[in-house]
Amino acid sequence: MQSKIESLKKDTLTALEKAKTEDEVRELEIKYLGRKGPFSDLMRGLKDLSDEEKRTVGKLANMVKKELELAVQQKYAALETAAMDEIVETEWLDVTVPGKKPQMGHRHLISKFIDDLEVIFGRMGFSVAEGPDIETEHFNFDQLNMPDDHPARDMQDTFWLKNLDKSVLRTQTSPVQIRYMEAHNPPLRIISMGKTFRKDSDATHSPMFHQCEGLMVGENISIANLKGVMTAFLQQVFEDDSIKTRFRTSYFPFVEPGLEVDCTCPICHGEGRLPDHSPCRLCKQCGWLEIGGAGMVHPKVLENVGYDPQKFTGFAFGMGLDRMVMIKYRVNHLRLLFENDLRFIEQF
Ligand code: DAH
Repeated sequence: MQSKIESLKKDTLTALEKAKTEDEVRELEIKYLGRKGPFSDLMRGLKDLSDEEKRTVGKLANMVKKELELAVQQKYAALETAAMDEIVETEWLDVTVPGKKPQMGHRHLISKFIDDLEVIFGRMGFSVAEGPDIETEHFNFDQLNMPDDHPARDMQDTFWLKNLDKSVLRTQTSPVQIRYMEAHNPPLRIISMGKTFRKDSDATHSPMFHQCEGLMVGENISIANLKGVMTAFLQQVFEDDSIKTRFRTSYFPFVEPGLEVDCTCPICHGEGRLPDHSPCRLCKQCGWLEIGGAGMVHPKVLENVGYDPQKFTGFAFGMGLDRMVMIKYRVNHLRLLFENDLRFIEQF
């Protein structure tokens, strides 16, 4: 009997030794020490023994059982400690390691430039008007004094829409003038900026480009006002008070007289040469840059929108935004503005 108890003890301890998980320990606990296990059998067998044996064997059996129960508890504890050690080993966290910076985007250079223009013109009392990118022939040409036999239409190589009769991708922001004047009465001061489209694509032209249109209509508005607004604008946008403007006569059907607006080159300050006497490449040494078209709103256009040209006069201007961005931020290829290469975009 004693040797049976001893070997049972040995078996249980060896099995316990090998157990690797709590579940395995639980199984062994039931198998060896449970009600249906060998130990319980043994205890039940005690009743057939003599009183003398009952005492000694019973005592030994109880002792061994207690010993094994303790071993089971210790095994549970050991497994738990091992599990904790493993967690500490594998799941530690160094809270002093600097975090990963999330990649933050920002608005495109052109969008930011548009915001800047809104602020500059806003200070001069101009509000922002908008129009659709898909325009009708009526707004893009007819109302601007460009009927369909007008040669000036050829100057703007137009994308006509196949499935939308008499519709175009707007070739200029000028139709917004018409839309705004039809909906409002003078006096008014607006700018309108956005995408414009022409079938033009080479190193210095992109089929999609951006324009800024300006319009001021009221009583007694003259070219002097146009010159004041343009000069103040150009000095602010290029952050250079020394910038001067120059107006040359030109032709646009919706203004009379039509003008070409130039400003002194912001790189060489009108000198044509840089401080080290090397030739200025931006203005090709002439000291002036062409910035846009302008003029006094044609009386016909005022009539088209129902204004009295005897009472109201106004000026308008239209400028290419992309070129201004290129000049201001020294961008040497137009394509860079539209390729969306992050290496370029992230610089601004
Ligand atoms: N819309 C003209 C163009 O795209 C530019 C322009 C010229 C706009 C004269 C004007 C203006 O408002 O008065 O070529």
